[in-house]
Amino acid sequence: MTKKNWIFGRNVIVTGCSTGIGKELTVQLVKKFGCNVMGVARNQQKLDALKQELGDKFDYRRFDISDEKQWFDFSEEMRRTGYEVDVLINNAGMIQEFSQYSDMSIETVRKIVDTNFNSVIFGVAAFLPQIKKSKFGYIVNISSASAILPVCGETVYSATKGAVKAFSESLAQDLSGFGIGVSCVMPGPVKTDLYKTREEGDGNAKKDYELVEKIGITAQTAANRIIKAMRKRKRRVLIDTVARLMDFGMRVAPTLTQKITCKAMKAACYYVPAFAPVFKEQIEQKEQIKLELKERKDNMYSSLDDVPQRGAFAKE
Ligand SMILES: NC(=O)c1ccc[n+]([C@@H]2O[C@H](COP(=O)([O-])OP(=O)(O)OC[C@H]3O[C@@H](n4cnc5c(N)ncnc54)[C@H](OP(=O)(O)O)[C@@H]3O)[C@@H](O)[C@H]2O)c1
Repeated sequence: MTKKNWIFGRNVIVTGCSTGIGKELTVQLVKKFGCNVMGVARNQQKLDALKQELGDKFDYRRFDISDEKQWFDFSEEMRRTGYEVDVLINNAGMIQEFSQYSDMSIETVRKIVDTNFNSVIFGVAAFLPQIKKSKFGYIVNISSASAILPVCGETVYSATKGAVKAFSESLAQDLSGFGIGVSCVMPGPVKTDLYKTREEGDGNAKKDYELVEKIGITAQTAANRIIKAMRKRKRRVLIDTVARLMDFGMRVAPTLTQKITCKAMKAACYYVPAFAPVFKEQIEQKEQIKLELKERKDNMYSSLDDVPQRGAFAKE
């Protein structure tokens, strides 16, 4: 028996199991590895269909993962009913419409932070006591390649995924002494419904889904590679070429890579309308911005001696 076989027959929680990567992880864990998967999502119809497909090795609970109380109620219920959790896969997440940060409502910002990051820290807090008791304890957090190269127009999404990455890497060190592994997965584009259900969508979301369709890997491939990495207990998991290229660029020349990415997106925004809201103002007001930047020079102090003595807070 090889070490990689630790995964066979484990009890696993998968969030976001109703569709996309989470659904594929669930299907493969049940069918290929005989795991018992307790899924979490909200869409009743999709969950029922999955139950129909997978039978007794799958069950689910419907709740909003951004709600701390629901996580602790859920873990208490699992403890009471004797479902001994070995593995927690924090997969569920959402993305924002490409936009300037100043155009986002604070409600949307909070929702993305709660769904993508707070859910992860709640889930780990709620289940860590049970995972520590397991002989096969393992945690997988699905971050994003935008945690490596934060993407233009995706400030909040990138920030939440960066937070998941930092949390996972630190947690992996915390838990290594207990024999509990932590994988942080940072996928590039995957062909799922993620982009179709963007927050604050104005129709552009569907159009940039076409780009993901062209360059993304399938959810099946993503799930397959994630499980492969879990079996090897890999901490840092890149599953596609786009993510690897982003990683390479950020290692070799981080500032240049960010500048080039942003310039490329700006240049492409006529062909990928989803990018347009990020650059619209800049393009429309190009001349005005140029003028203002030029004026900036005239308003600069050339040395400390030129700075007025009285500061902005001085009373008249
Ligand atoms: N697709 C990509 O290109 C890509 C790239 C990098 C990273 N990722 C990450 O991969 C993960 C999975 O994404 P995906 O592409 O598979 O997306 P998806 O197809 O949209 O699936 C998202 C899943 O999360 C669940 N979910 C969302 N918000 C939830 C909430 N508040 N409470 C409970 N469940 C919730 C959804 O279920 P219900 O609607 O039934 O609640 C659904 O099952 C996400 O964390 C995403 O950020 C994806």
